[in-house]
Amino acid sequence: MASKPVYVLNGPNLNLLGAREPDVYGRETLADIEADVKAQAKTLGLTVEFRQSNNEGTLVDWVQEADAKGSGLIINPGAYTHTSIALLDALKAASIPKIELHLSNIHAREEYRRKSLTAEAVNGVIMGFGAKGYRLALDAIKTLV
Ligand code: DQA
Repeated sequence: MASKPVYVLNGPNLNLLGAREPDVYGRETLADIEADVKAQAKTLGLTVEFRQSNNEGTLVDWVQEADAKGSGLIINPGAYTHTSIALLDALKAASIPKIELHLSNIHAREEYRRKSLTAEAVNGVIMGFGAKGYRLALDAIKTLV
């Protein structure tokens, strides 16, 4: 069992999953996803620190905390993906393995979603698999930590 947790960070509006644009993001709530990720973590011998915030600065703080206290990081930055140089800088400064995750395939959506500022600073990106993507990301981070 890895002693340090894998941080799974979720950005703005992801607290509304299940009710928010279910055609795009699916019907699973963030609590469903957290339970699923934690069950998956158990089978992989990992522990997970699962969080959500609507605030950019809080997410920056948590990326820094993940680097100090975690073994790896999975992050769905939500809309900050497309806007946040602060989050990009925090990710660049973090030396733990990092995976960016999106429920939807951002390249198949509106033009303004097709550019990820944060992807530059991560080991890999998983997108387009809905809630299942969190499991895929955990499998991927397991190979990196
Ligand atoms: C998202 C995609 C973003 O463009 C959007 O702002 C989100 C969710 C996704 O998981 O598909 O909030 O990160």
